[in-house]
Amino acid sequence: MAATAPAITAPAVTWEVTDGIATVVLDLKGQPVNVISRAVKDEFIACFAALADDARVRAVAFFSGKADNFIAGADIEEFVTLTSAAEAERLSADGQEMLDRVARFLKPIAVGIHGACLGGGFEFALACHYRVATDHPKTQIGLPEVQLGILPAAGGCQRLPRLVGVRAALDMILAGKSERAAKAFRLGMVDELVPPAILAEITVGAARRMAGGWRPKRKRRGGIMGFLLDGNPLGRLLVYRAARKQVLEKTGGHYPAPLAALEAVEYGMRHGIAEGLKREAQLFGQLAVTDVSRKLVQIFFATNELKKDPGIANAPPPVRVHRLGIIGSGFMGSGIAGTAVAQAEVDVRMKDADLARVAQGILAARAILDDRLKRRRITKYEYARLIALLSGGDSYAGFGRAELTIEAVFEELGVKQQVLREAEAVLPSASVFASNTSTIPITRIAEAARAPERVIGMHFFSPVAKMPLLEVIPGARTSPQTVSTAVAFGRRIGKTVIVVQDSPGFWVNRILAPYGNEVGHLLAEGASIEDIDSMAVRFGFPVGPVTLLDEVGLDVAVNVAGVMQSAYGDRIVPAPGPGIGALVKEGRLGRKSGRGFYIYTGGKKRGVDESVYGLLGIHPNGGPRPAEILQRLVLGLVNEAARALGEGVVRSPRDGDIGAIFGFGFPPFRGGPLRYADDLGAERVVSDLERLAERYGVRFAPSEVLQEHARRGTKLYS
Ligand code: 3HC
Ligand code: NAI
Repeated sequence: MAATAPAITAPAVTWEVTDGIATVVLDLKGQPVNVISRAVKDEFIACFAALADDARVRAVAFFSGKADNFIAGADIEEFVTLTSAAEAERLSADGQEMLDRVARFLKPIAVGIHGACLGGGFEFALACHYRVATDHPKTQIGLPEVQLGILPAAGGCQRLPRLVGVRAALDMILAGKSERAAKAFRLGMVDELVPPAILAEITVGAARRMAGGWRPKRKRRGGIMGFLLDGNPLGRLLVYRAARKQVLEKTGGHYPAPLAALEAVEYGMRHGIAEGLKREAQLFGQLAVTDVSRKLVQIFFATNELKKDPGIANAPPPVRVHRLGIIGSGFMGSGIAGTAVAQAEVDVRMKDADLARVAQGILAARAILDDRLKRRRITKYEYARLIALLSGGDSYAGFGRAELTIEAVFEELGVKQQVLREAEAVLPSASVFASNTSTIPITRIAEAARAPERVIGMHFFSPVAKMPLLEVIPGARTSPQTVSTAVAFGRRIGKTVIVVQDSPGFWVNRILAPYGNEVGHLLAEGASIEDIDSMAVRFGFPVGPVTLLDEVGLDVAVNVAGVMQSAYGDRIVPAPGPGIGALVKEGRLGRKSGRGFYIYTGGKKRGVDESVYGLLGIHPNGGPRPAEILQRLVLGLVNEAARALGEGVVRSPRDGDIGAIFGFGFPPFRGGPLRYADDLGAERVVSDLERLAERYGVRFAPSEVLQEHARRGTKLYS
């Protein structure tokens, strides 16, 4: 056997010294982003030891060698392999020690930040002595750790509050936020903001000035309130109390990381930075091995995999979309138009039945850009440029060069087929036609097409600008390139895309159907609206199923339920009584009409509309036990998800779980309905479902897939 030579890896950290300034560059060769792994840490230590000893060096300027990335944080791959809290604590303590050396380095260090500067990457920058950032949109700075179920554990919980004040630091750390550079500058997270072209010059200049004895002066931010709240222990106590309350309200106690981060900040501010660091490392150790963190990290990796997944095996390259046609400029059409302009800067041409509706649609699309301008996500100049990309009319003029057209007209097969025929007459021959239908089979719509291979479903969720999921649905004759084009475009406009089989309800509505339907049964048995919603929220859903129905729109829900009942009759059995249709008849359409199950005024949910019970012919009288309410809601959904997975509606459990989490907020810390089933174990899920089926009928009969896994003792995730 030939001996294997040890792998020679190129150093990630390199430097050169010119005129007393060492310019250090971090570039992990062959990696898409810079991360701080154990190996990189060792190189950092060696580099700084050499620079300390090098008499020529008077100051350091530090950069990333990546085009659009500074440092994406500690290496997540590394900490998922940790098996004990003690091991994780050591990892954090090692990182802290390295950054402590940076902070105490006798020669001043300036960093030039361009691209994502996140987690451990920002903690490194915090340990340096001067921070310059580019004003480029790719420059995002922050501490996203809690989104992975951990906390900033390389000194972030200590150095950030000391730099920007406790309030601003907690605001970032507890929400796991990252900010664009302009905001980071306003908050004091970086010292200087510059165009990318002069980043190196300004950073080296700052290093040189520091070498000459100059020290940056930083003002306390936040005016008088900053002084009263951040500047003294009593004020900070109020800040901690308010933050704790807010975290508990937001997380429902399901996510331990923000509370731990709060503790690390508070402890450090009270007992000093050294003690704070110790506490930070201990808490990191505890969090890194929790199930919640493991689940959140799995979601991070699944989302990343999906970013690269073309949606279909051996996919031909997608067609690049420069011009987008939108037919139907109503609620969804305008949402897609505005999102496409904001995210992908494509030229959008809208068409509706008359000019008044088109004008309304353009205004609604503009509202998405207005919002970005208000939040300072775009400049006035960018806003003006983007607005000019939106146009429309009552004819197909302007559609002749669209590479992609998305229809969002009324949910009627005849209307969809008619606009498809009209569009095909004017669209270029290679153009893709997508339908945003929520219930109509794509294959049926495509029957009207001259070129069914270019027809596909692109099912967005409302509100389009905010909801992260897109289901792409190939019909029976859709070509692979049509799939890859729809997937690529969806991703370009910021969506996480799953490719789903053309079957009733696709994925999200299919698995939501038993969940929403069970609401009717529970109400009929005397459960109150509040009880049903609060049980689901306690499980970790952002809102309960009754509120969700109001959000979706009761008219839309009735329509979807009808389709699901005819497709899956024995499982989506309607509850006795008049059902939600009775509310729709009264003009109660949910939030959009100010009244559904709840009353809404001034855009806020005000409480249950008690008269709903009368309309439904029911009286709340306690109903089933809370635990049973929850079991019926969740296991019905889990059962349907497993069944649909077995039918190949989604390509993998990963896609199914991501669809449920991003589509309707299935609790991320549970990893999605399929992961949840695996955690409970198929045997237990099956036996619980059998018990429910005995009491409530066949709608709870366990799916074949779950039964099979229960018999074999296997899992949905192989
Ligand atoms: N560790 C390991 N791998 C990482 C990583 C990290 N921190 N950040 C990104 N990557 C990997 C991704 O998994 C992906 O790998 P792949 O190509 O093999 O699938 C690759 O880098 C490229 O990532 P994206 O596809 O996400 O690239 P984008 O350009 O779309 O986004 C990014 C770049 C904004 C940096 C995004 O990757 C991101 O948000 N990364 C995570 C940032 C983060 O959470 N950092 C905190 C880490 S924890 C920490 O620092 C703990 C410390 O406090 C001790
Ligand atoms: P909407 O009623 O707000 O908009 C429909 C628009 O289509 C109207 O402006 C109408 O004038 C226009 N239209 C109708 N016939 C037309 C024609 N022949 N030519 C041009 N324009 C025409 O409806 P909404 O809510 O935007 O729904 C549109 C589609 O999106 C439907 O298929 C719906 O099922 C689907 N959908 C809706 C979701 C929602 O939450 N509302 C979510 C996901 C999908």
